[in-house]
Amino acid sequence: MRRWWADAVFYQVYPRSFADSNGDGVGDLAGVTAGLDYLVALGVDALWLNPVMVSPMADHGYDVADPRDVDPLFGDLDALDELLDAAHARGIRVTMDLVPNHTSSAHPWFVEALADPHRRERYIFRDGRGPGGAAPPNNWVSVFGGPAWTRDTEPDGSPGQWYLHLFDPAQPDLNWNHPEVFEDLEKTLRFWLDRGVDGFRIDVAHGMAKPPELPDMAVTDTALLRNSDDDPRFDNESVHDIHRFIRTVLDDYPDAVAVGEVWVHGNERFAMYLRPDELHLGFNFRLVQADFDADEIHAAIDNALAAAALAGATPTWTLSNHDVEREVTRYGGGVRGLARARAMALVMLALPGAVFVYNGEELGLPNVELPDAVLQDPVWERSGHTERGRDGCRVPMPWSGDVPPFGFSSTADTWLPMPAEWASLTVQRQLTDPASTLNFYRRAIQLRAGRTEFDDVGIDLSSADGVLTVRRGPLRCLLNAGADPVPLPPGQVLLSSGELADGTLPPDTAVWLV
Ligand code: GLC
Repeated sequence: MRRWWADAVFYQVYPRSFADSNGDGVGDLAGVTAGLDYLVALGVDALWLNPVMVSPMADHGYDVADPRDVDPLFGDLDALDELLDAAHARGIRVTMDLVPNHTSSAHPWFVEALADPHRRERYIFRDGRGPGGAAPPNNWVSVFGGPAWTRDTEPDGSPGQWYLHLFDPAQPDLNWNHPEVFEDLEKTLRFWLDRGVDGFRIDVAHGMAKPPELPDMAVTDTALLRNSDDDPRFDNESVHDIHRFIRTVLDDYPDAVAVGEVWVHGNERFAMYLRPDELHLGFNFRLVQADFDADEIHAAIDNALAAAALAGATPTWTLSNHDVEREVTRYGGGVRGLARARAMALVMLALPGAVFVYNGEELGLPNVELPDAVLQDPVWERSGHTERGRDGCRVPMPWSGDVPPFGFSSTADTWLPMPAEWASLTVQRQLTDPASTLNFYRRAIQLRAGRTEFDDVGIDLSSADGVLTVRRGPLRCLLNAGADPVPLPPGQVLLSSGELADGTLPPDTAVWLV
């Protein structure tokens, strides 16, 4: 049976940054509802909303204090219901982020755990090592920098136990050996699914389970860990029990989808998350990690196809999200970075499977160099100001007008400042220019949805001399990642990412031919 998400274009809404309806400088749910017609015109099938649950916002919503309510910053449950109704009326599905690895330190369970040493079993508390328990229980590091343990002060004021947080200290890790953690997640899943939510993006889906003995990490340098699965913090066997549990709940809602954020390296390990009784989809980040190089891109696509095929699952594709540098900047920035980003969009949209477009990608937004004083990502503090963090890819969307806040909000005091240069990148401006990135994205998504060539799921790849060729039935997508123009083979041009000159495909350009 072909499922709705098998070739869907998902649009990732970072709610803080999409559109602000109430003038507080932060985007909200009513802003998303107001933008739905824009998304219909773009041709997207579904939304993925980053977390909108109640949160002190230490990690902008990935620190959830109440998983079954909407944070007032974004609106309320009524605003969510309105968004669901308005989206469904337009044929757009809505998926939400779910954060099962940790809660906020403001979650009532954690508040209780700190106050009462006998109520800690829902988190991972341990005594410290060494004299007086002054050293952390093991050498684990936080993904955001620094140790993954924080020592708490006992209710009587003495130095206490340590608790585990793979991310910020305001995000204590849950103990997934505790039945109440399962029960509560089921309540949360049903709460949103019963309201009409169409599925979840599962945060840190390779996390959650921890090895019982909490062994030291052999390697603590996170740069070295990127290409390895030798990391006791993640991808532990019993995580699959959790996914099977989630799936049994989702199966009561036949059209609901679960897509996991799965940062594991090896294909066999990745495919385990996509077994028929676990996740429907897993994010594959190889394209995000590949340089603008035909062989690397070829290898990344091959790899993602192979990983999904191992589990008989649908492949997924993404060029960016709220955690990584925007691709225009990754590919070199400026005119060239934009040309390459557009070319890569054509490659991505030629591939069979589910595609995720991150808000602002369709406008060709670059990353923003923000001044130190406005940085908010916990990574900035936790890394001792050595890593700037992810704020640069989270700057609000420019909609209209010539000066910030470009119609995003009624206040110029937006949660992150918007660069004056974005005047040329607003939606309004791009709609009037047939060659704009926005019109290019619209056209590409429309062709992908409407042309029968894209029904073919078979795919064949080759790369030589800087040119990548993707064949999908009668469709060919050619990407010139080399330094010189190459002759265009015969065929009708459906769409190109930039101008084609004299029967050639210029560097940093891609084309669809039939
Ligand atoms: C995921 C999210 C990221 C968040 C982290 C902790 O990686 O994508 O934004 O900071 O989990 O929840």
